Amino acid sequence: MALRWTGTLKDRDVTDEAAWLNRRALLAGLSGLAVAGATGARAADAPELELNTWEEITGYNNFYEFGTGKQDPARNAGQLTTSPWTVTIDGLVDRPGDYAFEDILSKMTIEERIYRFRCVEAWSMVVPWNGFELADLLDLAGIRSSARYVAFETLLRPEEMPGQNSRVLDWPYVEGLRLDEALNPLTIMATGLYGKDIPNQNGAPLRLVVPWKYGFKSIKSVVKITLTDTQPPTTWNKAGPREYGFYSNVNPEVDHPRWSQATEQRVGGGLFARRQETLMFNGYADEVAGLYAGMDLEKDF
Ligand code: MTE
Repeated sequence: MALRWTGTLKDRDVTDEAAWLNRRALLAGLSGLAVAGATGARAADAPELELNTWEEITGYNNFYEFGTGKQDPARNAGQLTTSPWTVTIDGLVDRPGDYAFEDILSKMTIEERIYRFRCVEAWSMVVPWNGFELADLLDLAGIRSSARYVAFETLLRPEEMPGQNSRVLDWPYVEGLRLDEALNPLTIMATGLYGKDIPNQNGAPLRLVVPWKYGFKSIKSVVKITLTDTQPPTTWNKAGPREYGFYSNVNPEVDHPRWSQATEQRVGGGLFARRQETLMFNGYADEVAGLYAGMDLEKDF
C-alpha cells in the first residue's frame, strides 16, 4: 500500500492546493493539468487514497479548546499565538530542556505523508500532512534505556483557548503512546497540510499524527513531551474510561459501547458520500500489527 511520499518538501512556498497538486503530479511524471483539473484531488502515486480538500480538513475539526462544535475550531482558533513556541522535552532523556520550535524545524527533515485519518466518532478523511518522524525529535533529546512510554501535553492558555474556561474536559489535553508506538516510522509530528503551515484549528504549530489509532490520540498544539516508565494518563480515557482506552487502535471488530466501529463516513464527497468499511489498524496492519502480537485487543482497546 502506498502510504508515504518518498520526496521531501523543504520549500514552504507552495501557494495553494492546485499548485500543490500540480507539483505532486510533476513529481509523479504526470500532466499537472490533468491532476489539478480532476475533481477530488486524486493522489497520483496513491490512487486508492482520495484526498480530502483543504476546506474539509480545515473546516471540520475536533479541538475542544476552541469549542465542541465541528466549526468552532476554524472560527475561534485564529486568536491562538503560535510564535514563539517551545516544546519542553523532559523525563527519561539525556538532554531535557525547552526546544524552540524553529530550532526543531531546522534539524528535521520535512516529509509529505498521505494518511487515512479515522475519528472514534466514525468519520474519516485522507490528509496530506507535512511533518517529521517523532523518533527523530526524540533522538534530539536522547531517549534513556529506562523509558517505556511517551506522554504529550497541549498548551494551557485559557485566555486564547475559550473552551478551556469550560469543564467539558480536564485541561490541559494530554495523550500518551507506548515507546515502540512512538518510534514507529508511521508516527509523525505534523507541521503542515498541503505544503502550507498547519492551520491553528488543526493543531499549529505541531501536532502528533498516529494514523492507525483513533484521531483523539493525535494530540494538537503540543508544548510538552515527557519520557516515562509508567503508562501516562490520557484525556479521553479520564473522561470515559469504559469508552476510550489507552491504545485506541482503529478496530472494526471492537465497537464503542454506544456505536459500531465496523464502518465509517468519509467527510465530504457530496452525492457520492457513502459509508465505507473500517479497516483493521485503519489500513496500516502490515506496518503495526506486530506491535500488538499476543495482546487481547478487546481488553486492551
Ligand atoms: N487535541 C487537543 N489538544 N484537543 C482536542 O480536542 N481532539 C482530538 C485530536 N486532537 C483534540 C486533539 C480528536 S477527537 C480528533 S478526531 C482530532 O484531533 C481531530 O483532528 P483534526 O481536527 O485535524 O481532523
